[in-house]
Amino acid sequence: MPLIDTLNRPLRDLRISVTDRCNFRCVYCMPKEIFGPDYQFLHRDRILTFEEITRLAKIFVSHGVGKIRLTGGEPLVRKDVTGLVSMLASIPDLDLTMTTNGSLLPKFARPLKEAGLKRVTVSLDSLDNEIFKSMNDVDFPVEKVLEGMEAAAEAGLGPIKVNMVVKRGLNEASILPMARFFREKGYILRFIEYMDVGHTNGWRMDDVVPSAEIVKMIDAEMPLESADPNYPGEVAGRWRYKDGSGEVGTISSVTQAFCRTCNRTRISAEGQLYTCLFAVKGHDFRALLRGGGSDEEISNEIARVWGMRDDRYSEIRSENTIALPKVEMSHIGG
Ligand code: GTP
Ligand code: 5AD
Ligand code: SF4
Ligand code: SF4
Repeated sequence: MPLIDTLNRPLRDLRISVTDRCNFRCVYCMPKEIFGPDYQFLHRDRILTFEEITRLAKIFVSHGVGKIRLTGGEPLVRKDVTGLVSMLASIPDLDLTMTTNGSLLPKFARPLKEAGLKRVTVSLDSLDNEIFKSMNDVDFPVEKVLEGMEAAAEAGLGPIKVNMVVKRGLNEASILPMARFFREKGYILRFIEYMDVGHTNGWRMDDVVPSAEIVKMIDAEMPLESADPNYPGEVAGRWRYKDGSGEVGTISSVTQAFCRTCNRTRISAEGQLYTCLFAVKGHDFRALLRGGGSDEEISNEIARVWGMRDDRYSEIRSENTIALPKVEMSHIGG
């Protein structure tokens, strides 16, 4: 039996952040002014070991979790992350995936596939180098990310999904070129509304481009029709090209909250469990793991935390909630 929270939502999906570090400084996630040379990233002793992560993962799976997504920061900057993938891949009946910025995929795509990873989702905000570089803020070129996607597709980590965060005034002009390009490629492009995660990105409602606007824009050139979700609680709305040439997705956390079906939880690199992307506080599982807690105790604690969960941040977002000291995206991986 899956665990059920106070709003009757089952626990199905676990996102594990394996590092708070990243080789990009996306302006909406790790702005340079905050995440500069003096920023204190988590020390190695404070982040969960692969053994600790695998132990926790197994307990979550015993509670009905069927899907694990590895995130970061950037998951591929964690040393020997393929080793972790192979440990997790040995857990039966598990869909094991990863969200990455793609920069290191040319090197890692094949080893990841061999270790047992099923699929990857790659973030890319524009095909225009000037715009992309102004968003990743480390001068990283588009071609290298496309190479990473190619390497992943060749290694069998498809169907590739592409995440594009849309920020008003920054990359709206990239919406149509991205749609055309990835339709041709056969990758599934998803447009993500810029969210008020964390408290360092200076989010303003005016910066959000509503998904409805994006769908309308694409539909005018390449007609779209809505499609049913692939599974209950899928975050992305699905839109099929009417001519059968593929689909795009919209992740509308701001304009069309999907908390009602939210079946996800997140573990930060240091072993805090967050029951919402916008949580202010986590639950310390590292202390339990390192303090000699038995599997049963950890299992009971997961059940207790999920049992009292009542999060629905996107539904209650307001001027008052925006300023809360929420956990950073780079700590819980989106
Ligand atoms: P699949 O359904 O397997 O493709 O995964 P996904 O779309 O959940 O994963 P991905 O890491 O690609 O997430 C896409 C975007 O959706 C990211 O910006 C996440 O921050 C956002 N997102 C994912 N889950 C949630 C959620 O529960 N709440 C909110 N508000 N946003 C979410
Ligand atoms: N709003 C929306 N999406 C974000 N991401 C990172 N920060 C934000 C934000 N503030 C995206 C990344 C990645 C995914 C996991 O989350 O680009 O694709
Ligand atoms: Fe790094 Fe992803 Fe955040 Fe960009 S969005 S800074 S790639 S973790
Ligand atoms: Fe789930 Fe929180 Fe996102 Fe709502 S805002 S969908 S509760 S993670």
